[in-house]
Amino acid sequence: MTTDSIEALMRQGLQELYYAEGQFADALDTLADQTTDDAASQAFSDHREETEEQLRRLEQVFEAMGEDPQPMEDAAVKAMIDEHEQFAGENEGDVLDRYNMELGQKVEHYEIAAYGSLASQAEKIGHDEAADHLTETLREEEAALETITEASEQFDEQMIAGD
Ligand SMILES: [Fe+2]
Repeated sequence: MTTDSIEALMRQGLQELYYAEGQFADALDTLADQTTDDAASQAFSDHREETEEQLRRLEQVFEAMGEDPQPMEDAAVKAMIDEHEQFAGENEGDVLDRYNMELGQKVEHYEIAAYGSLASQAEKIGHDEAADHLTETLREEEAALETITEASEQFDEQMIAGD
């Protein structure tokens, strides 16, 4: 693969991630409202605020690379959001809470993979400023995953204790 094709791949990945972050910002609002578990709901609303920052940071990445932000639909992200909407329409209470926590974890894993790959590509190609921004967000996604995972593990423990 040539450097040119890595750069093209990276630019496409950034547009897809820009789409994903926009979708996740809305989804996090829904998750925060819908989830009754306090720790998880708080984690979702905190990360929603952070996601706004991450969107601005992605715009800085585009600027540093001389590219216009044009969100490109990512079918996997759309499927996750659609599936959640359907599940939330048919379920409630603890079951929906636990589903939402798992979705939160899946979203963070997706983002960690995307930011990690893009940061590595940016660094290798020599887009240092872009790489720094992407790595900063990567660290936030890792921390968010940890917070959501802790909430979900505590939730599972309470469920078992309550049986
Ligand atoms: Fe994010």
